[in-house]
This record gives sequence, C-alpha cells and structure tokens, in this order.
Amino acid sequence: MPITTCVFDAYGTLFDVAAAAREAAAEPGRGVFAEKWPAIAQTWRLKQLQYTWLRATAGVHQDFWTVTQDGLDYALEEQAVEDAELRARLLQLYWELSAYPEVPEMLRALKEAGMNTAILSNGTPDMLEGAVNAAGIGEVLDACLSVQSLGVYKPHRSVYGLVRAYFGCSAREVLFVSSNCWDACAASGYGFHTIWANRAGEPMDRLPWKPAHVLSDLTSVPSIAAAA
Ligand code: LAC
Repeated sequence: MPITTCVFDAYGTLFDVAAAAREAAAEPGRGVFAEKWPAIAQTWRLKQLQYTWLRATAGVHQDFWTVTQDGLDYALEEQAVEDAELRARLLQLYWELSAYPEVPEMLRALKEAGMNTAILSNGTPDMLEGAVNAAGIGEVLDACLSVQSLGVYKPHRSVYGLVRAYFGCSAREVLFVSSNCWDACAASGYGFHTIWANRAGEPMDRLPWKPAHVLSDLTSVPSIAAAA
C-alpha cells in the first residue's frame, strides 16, 4: 500500500534539541556553562525522557513542559550550575529551537508530492507551536499532533493511533520518522513504515521491533516515501 502520510517526531528529529544549550553557551559571560554545556544538554534530554516513562509507569502524568523543566533542573544541579537567568534563557531557547537545515526543503518536497505531513510529539501544543513558528515550517505541515489530549507519552500505542484518527488512514499508509530509535521501533510495532534518523551513529535499541530504514539525516525521506 503506497505511503500517503509522513509523520515526524519533533525533538531531535525536526528540531535540534542541543541548540538551546549550544546557543546559550556561545553568549558572552556564560562562565563554566560554556565548557559544561554538552554534558548538561545530554543529561537534560535523557532525564526529560526518563521522567516521561517513570511518570507513565507510576501513573502520575505531567505535561511535557513540566518534565522538560525538571530534566533541566536535574542536569544543572548535577554539574553544580546555579544560575536563574541561565535557566530562564535555556527554557526560552528551547521554546524556539532551530530546525535541522534540511527540514524545510524536505517537508516542501513531501507536500509537492501530495503527501499529508504532520508532527507527532510528546510536546505540548504550545511548545510545538512555538518551535514550528520559530522554524517557519507551519505552511508545510498539515497537523501538529500532541500526546497532551491523551495524558500518556510515547511509546504507548494510543499515541501512534492519533495519526490514524486524524487522517483517517490505515497504519500501512504512514511513514513515521524519529531520531529516537525506541520511538521508531515502537512505531514499527504499531504497523507504521518507519525511519530512524540516527544522526549520532548510535547503536540500535534492543527492542522487539526494528525500524525499516536507518538514515543519518532527513534528506532522502521524500524518495523513501515515494518508493515504499
Ligand atoms: C517528541 C520527543 C520524544 O517529540 O522527541 O515526542
């Protein structure tokens, strides 16, 4: 069955999650943060995701903006960085993350080929709107689907079900793209055709499913969608 609908994870896939820490570190007067930012950015991301899974297991959901702030607070404390202005600046930059350079043209090519395009993300609707506007890609996206309405995070199957409910399509018509290997794997398990965007050359997650394709960036997504 041909692909009709191309769906993207947001953070780390379309938007560069390390950009907030990298851009703040380049600002004058950042002191030790200028050196510690890579470790802080990595722990921030890991804790943000861990908190989604831990909260899901414990049955105490909080929105993604809250767990994003909790992850940042953990990462800053771990590196003994105590700076309220820096914290506020990092969160502001997270709200307006840059898209990876190939993203606008790739989405435009999908729209020109007649595909539906969407984001499917843990992010709150407000966070996603902020990032989409900052990246200027609103015109080439048909929908921003957030887990917020479900009160549960990826990789719960009901999250992937949002795509079928919105577009009225079958799972086999969907190409799902994520930089999180576990997300691409779980989407394969759901029945989507999947791409893992493995920008950092990480090992494959040991899960019961595998992504159909592994890419180092998103440039060839339109040709994979056309050929699938
Ligand atoms: C998202 C995170 C998981 O956008 O990257 O859903």
